[in-house]
Amino acid sequence: MEKAKRLILDQAAIARRVAELGAQLSRDYRHLEPILVGVLKGAFIFMADLVRALDFPVEVDFVRLASYGAGTTSSGEIHLSKDVELPLRDRHVLIVEDIVDAGLTLDFLRRHLDQRKPASLKICCLIDKWERRQVDVPLDYVGFTVSKGFLVGYGLDCGEKLRTLPEVYELVE
Ligand code: PRP
Repeated sequence: MEKAKRLILDQAAIARRVAELGAQLSRDYRHLEPILVGVLKGAFIFMADLVRALDFPVEVDFVRLASYGAGTTSSGEIHLSKDVELPLRDRHVLIVEDIVDAGLTLDFLRRHLDQRKPASLKICCLIDKWERRQVDVPLDYVGFTVSKGFLVGYGLDCGEKLRTLPEVYELVE
């Protein structure tokens, strides 16, 4: 049976916060020619909105990482199936992620990208979901903080479904 959905973030709230993050990043990175690295698949919508909220030029790249199986529980294993393509050495790199849950994905990615010797490596995530955090990852820019719940929409999926919803919902029993 399809689960019910409870609205967590509506379009206006997301748009407001993305604009605020864009303004903050514009102040901090304006003269640094950063590379934004989006984490596929979940971050594709946030990344697309965020880069358009920046009023200075950036370069973009993507990695493809997955930690979840087909359902709503994490497998705990991280798979990297697409790496960055731009050289990161001596560049200011900002990871753009949709949601941080256990923190395993970002912990893996930070170590992975750090090997390329960037000038700086920071993280911008839309949602910090902290209750199940297993690894302490430094989150430099956070859109929203939630404690728990299985979230879908605005890039977040449940077994590849519901990613394209413009709002963020919690799936409820
Ligand atoms: C989700 C999400 C993050 C990661 C967070 O991706 O987009 O990348 O899980 O989980 P963690 O903090 O517990 O490691 P998922 O593995 O579902 O792949 P997807 O982005 O392709 O949906």
